[in-house]
Amino acid sequence: MNAISFSRLEQRLRTLAGFGGLPGGGVTRQAFSARHEEARGWLLAEMASAGLETWVDAAANVFGATGIRHFSPDRPVVLTGSHIDTVPEGGPLDGALGVLAGLECLQTIVEAGLTHRLPLAVAAWTDEEGRFGSLFGSRAFSGRLDTARIADMASSDGERLVDAMARAGFDAFRAGEAKVDPAAISAYVEMHIEQGPRLEEAGVPIGVVEAIVGIRRVRARFVGQADHAGTTPMERRRDGFLAAAEYAVKAREIVGKHGGAHAVANVGVVHVHPGVANIVPARCELVHEMRAPDADVLERLAKSFAALARRVAKRRAVEVEVQPMSATAPAVCAPPVQAAITDACAALGLPAMRLHSAAGHDAQNLASITDAGMIFIPSVGGRSHRIDETSAPDAIERGANVLLHTLLRLAA
Ligand code: GLV
Ligand code: MN
Ligand code: MN
Repeated sequence: MNAISFSRLEQRLRTLAGFGGLPGGGVTRQAFSARHEEARGWLLAEMASAGLETWVDAAANVFGATGIRHFSPDRPVVLTGSHIDTVPEGGPLDGALGVLAGLECLQTIVEAGLTHRLPLAVAAWTDEEGRFGSLFGSRAFSGRLDTARIADMASSDGERLVDAMARAGFDAFRAGEAKVDPAAISAYVEMHIEQGPRLEEAGVPIGVVEAIVGIRRVRARFVGQADHAGTTPMERRRDGFLAAAEYAVKAREIVGKHGGAHAVANVGVVHVHPGVANIVPARCELVHEMRAPDADVLERLAKSFAALARRVAKRRAVEVEVQPMSATAPAVCAPPVQAAITDACAALGLPAMRLHSAAGHDAQNLASITDAGMIFIPSVGGRSHRIDETSAPDAIERGANVLLHTLLRLAA
């Protein structure tokens, strides 16, 4: 049975983790940061040294391919990939694994001269983690980017996408030109760490992803009244923070009661204004994220949260404004890609289980233009988006070999 070189993959994973590597472990390599741009240069060189054709599109997506020099409906390609950007203080595998395993598979195929009817390509999609807007690169590639919004896209620290891309040598206003003709893509399969505990707890080495959650983010702004924190009687305070806090706690209860088995929600950003100890908070703004693999559940939750915000605000005599920030739709993984992964697992003698992805992935954009699917491997302790994110070496090797045999099947 043909197999990837694990030592080469492991070495590349270690090298990539050095771009933005943190002294205490983990990686900070956000899209278009200096470390990210160095990593992009390194990746392009690795792809070229592996014998692949390389190019970078208008949305800064990086591609390496065998059998094509650009995307064309005349030569539909089997595509794999993931992302090399990370969240702040993230781990070494989220995204990096899918890109480098894809590169390793293509290099194995080229070097061993393995037969494939269709060309193959590996992508590193831009800004998957949404520093400027979630799944930016794959969104542009799939023709789902709202180009009218480009001028307003900015990171939470205030940097504009236009400036960040200009520094990296790209014109953000041309990102829409990355849109591919869907006829040029035959299928897409992405390998990724699960980032949760289900595979590890089930003792199953491979996950075949059936669906990917939709993610909505809203900004809720509770506006009360600034007052002297010592002299204002407690019952007269109109405290923006307390309204936001009550909203966050009650929203958690709603998910538990009405979210079904798979919905989750998170408040990961809170700003209190003016943010000093001796003023009753006049204003509190939070970002509320909600996820579910079922579009109806997601819609119902969003409505319940908006109604909750109004109820809490009324009772606490503050104003509230709830603004949508972003929304991705849940995606279904294509049965032919799921079947190719399942067949590859059977050929390799590896048990597999079907599961949904609770994280967002570029595959959900690709699913709108082609047959798309995902291969998951177990994450130790289910840990991800933290510096101690890891997967066992043999889990990585098995997953990369499943990717190899899935690609060969899809390209046969
Ligand atoms: C991507 O990492 C996500 O937030 O799901
Ligand atoms: Mn991530
Ligand atoms: Mn990821």
